[in-house]
Amino acid sequence: MYLNWYKVEGVDFRNLFFLEKHNLYWLAESMMENRTLSIALKAHPDLLWYFKRLLPQQAAAFQSIADSAADNLSAEEIRNAEVEVMKRINDWIVYIVDPSSYDSLEFTKWDDKELTELACFKDKRVIDLGAGTGRLSFIAAREGATVYAVEPVRTLRIYLKEKAHRLEARKFFVVDGLIEDIPFEEDFADITIAGHTFGDFLEEEYAQMFRVTKDGGKIILCPGNVDKDNEVHAFLVDKGFDWARFEEPGAGYVRKYFMKVSK
Ligand SMILES: C[S@@+](CC[C@H](N)C(=O)[O-])C[C@H]1O[C@@H](n2cnc3c(N)ncnc32)[C@H](O)[C@@H]1O
Repeated sequence: MYLNWYKVEGVDFRNLFFLEKHNLYWLAESMMENRTLSIALKAHPDLLWYFKRLLPQQAAAFQSIADSAADNLSAEEIRNAEVEVMKRINDWIVYIVDPSSYDSLEFTKWDDKELTELACFKDKRVIDLGAGTGRLSFIAAREGATVYAVEPVRTLRIYLKEKAHRLEARKFFVVDGLIEDIPFEEDFADITIAGHTFGDFLEEEYAQMFRVTKDGGKIILCPGNVDKDNEVHAFLVDKGFDWARFEEPGAGYVRKYFMKVSK
């Protein structure tokens, strides 16, 4: 049920001060009935204050979930609740506590050819949306592209910059932004890529990717979906994407999507 990417038992709950606004939107949507979140927030009034400050439109909801926790809980009950919350948001814990551990996860070891066979990256200007630790970005950079790695999580942006420095990727720029609000002008990129990022707001995300990609350029989602004929698949096929399957080690088959942009 949980991702189980990272052991959270030893992680300080105050790391949640590194969460971003888009994370809090998800928390507010998905965990407001969660008893463990209510216990953990009541035990951390400073963090509660930070959540309310970062997402004022949900301030009352965050306050009310904290208020709903019982008083006088033991230190053990509080710690169990913190651990349970961090298990639920295990991917975020990796991003904010130890991004380098993402690069060791088995499913990231797919063959780079899955991306490089879809486009020639040499001398192209590439936007990577939700760049994470740079799984796709650094393939494009190695192939000779100038890369703009867009990533909304501050700790990951820091990691991306350090990694680019370490790999001596000189045409590599790290930018804050969201796939549904891409911080570039029209027709900025020859190729727009994203891996494991597309799918929360289908129309908005597609419209943004289309907007920033040049006529004749490409949009590539690698991977862009699970291996299912679901709503995301129907949407992308309807927009004119071609698709194929490939295997992520240990995780099974996923789908990649690619289209030439015509304006
Ligand atoms: C599972 S990781 C994938 C990272 C990398 N693209 C890869 O394939 O390994 C998802 C990434 O998308 C970022 N993300 C989450 N919501 C996003 C959004 N709305 N716009 C852009 N990136 C987002 C996360 O911070 C995380 O870095």
